[in-house]
Amino acid sequence: MVAEKNKSKKNKIGDSEKVSFTVDSGILYRLGLELFQRAESAVAELIKNAYDADANDVKVTFLDVDEKGGTLIIDDDGEGMTKDQIINGFMRIASTEKLHNPKTTKGRKKAGKKGIGRIATILLGSKITIVTNNNIEEDFAYKLEIDWNKYKIDSKISTVENTLEIIEKTKPKGTTLTIHHLRESWSEKDIRRVYRYIADLLQPTLYEINHRKYSKKRLIEVKDTDTFEVRFYDRENEEPLADINIMMYDKALAKITAYIDEDGYGYCSINSDKFGLSGKEFLKISDTDKDREKHAPFDDLKGTNVILIAYYFIGNRIEYYQDSFTNPELTAIMNYLKRDGGVKLYRNRFRLPNYGGNNDWLSINKKSRAFDGFPFSTKNFTGYVQLTDQKDVIFTKFT
Ligand SMILES: Nc1ncnc2c1ncn2[C@@H]1O[C@H](COP(=O)(O)OP(=O)(O)O)[C@@H](O)[C@H]1O
Ligand SMILES: [Mg+2]
Repeated sequence: MVAEKNKSKKNKIGDSEKVSFTVDSGILYRLGLELFQRAESAVAELIKNAYDADANDVKVTFLDVDEKGGTLIIDDDGEGMTKDQIINGFMRIASTEKLHNPKTTKGRKKAGKKGIGRIATILLGSKITIVTNNNIEEDFAYKLEIDWNKYKIDSKISTVENTLEIIEKTKPKGTTLTIHHLRESWSEKDIRRVYRYIADLLQPTLYEINHRKYSKKRLIEVKDTDTFEVRFYDRENEEPLADINIMMYDKALAKITAYIDEDGYGYCSINSDKFGLSGKEFLKISDTDKDREKHAPFDDLKGTNVILIAYYFIGNRIEYYQDSFTNPELTAIMNYLKRDGGVKLYRNRFRLPNYGGNNDWLSINKKSRAFDGFPFSTKNFTGYVQLTDQKDVIFTKFT
């Protein structure tokens, strides 16, 4: 009997059966550590989640971080999660929900899409608690605890259990993510580094090309947008860190704006009180490449809504700034530019990390060295290029 059973199990040509993948729990741990190698990109993922939840304010607090084992709290006032969203969204890795619903209720273009942002917390600490309040369940909130250490032990991923509790509401709406047992200590310098990264994550101001037919040169106007503010606290209840970018932009000696219109022609204007330039007149950028006479100079980019906003400083001439700066403020700005100047690239509001800062992708410094008298370098010139990519087709690899 036994022998016969074994015999019937023996493989023979022509047999087939259905097989499926199973996943070992260690995958999360490894993905968390491999996908997010820098603390700043891990924190950025969590901030993006607050953005995608339509939050207006995010508070990031570091507690007891002088040594390992501290706590990081990311607290937003977004829409929160329902039980269904926790179970079928948060607890489901690589869910494609955001791919299918790319816009938020407020009309924001969602920043997260790959369904892996939450495992960035593994890089930061070994345990997380999520308390989430949504508008739908009026009377209570949910508290979910995940101990990532449990995922280190070999087992099928679905057998590792986490506790989801119903608790009293902690606020009208919003999610509080607490990361416990931080793996590293955080010096004030580390916190500032992450803060600078986050401060640059979202484009400071959005612009629009004005398509009014009757105006000769179309101007670029600031669009009225909903707010998204991230504040960093390196201890509880202290003043948040100041955002140097916002503070410095309106103190530049000159502001340069440029755009490419839908026919592929570029226009540029300079605004500077110091040099008596109003910035109202947009001049067509001439084409120096004669071979391209048949084409518009920026033919490849037509219809892409490319806008450049840049700011120009002169570091060693405090007298240029009259009353707008103190000497230490100017020094702080020049230090910022030295470290993180140049032109950054933003796509649909979010920064593409490898453009600007250390990467001089526009070769501004090369030109500065090559042409005598070219007054720009990444040490005195900063700003950003705004790309609008409604169809979500360009640079998607980098986000
Ligand atoms: N702060 C938050 N507020 C509301 N929902 C959140 C928050 N953080 C995460 N979520 C939910 O968890 C899901 C998984 O997040 P994540 O791993 O970053 O992947 P993705 O953002 O690509 O969907 C999100 O789709 C969202 O439903
Ligand atoms: Mg995300």
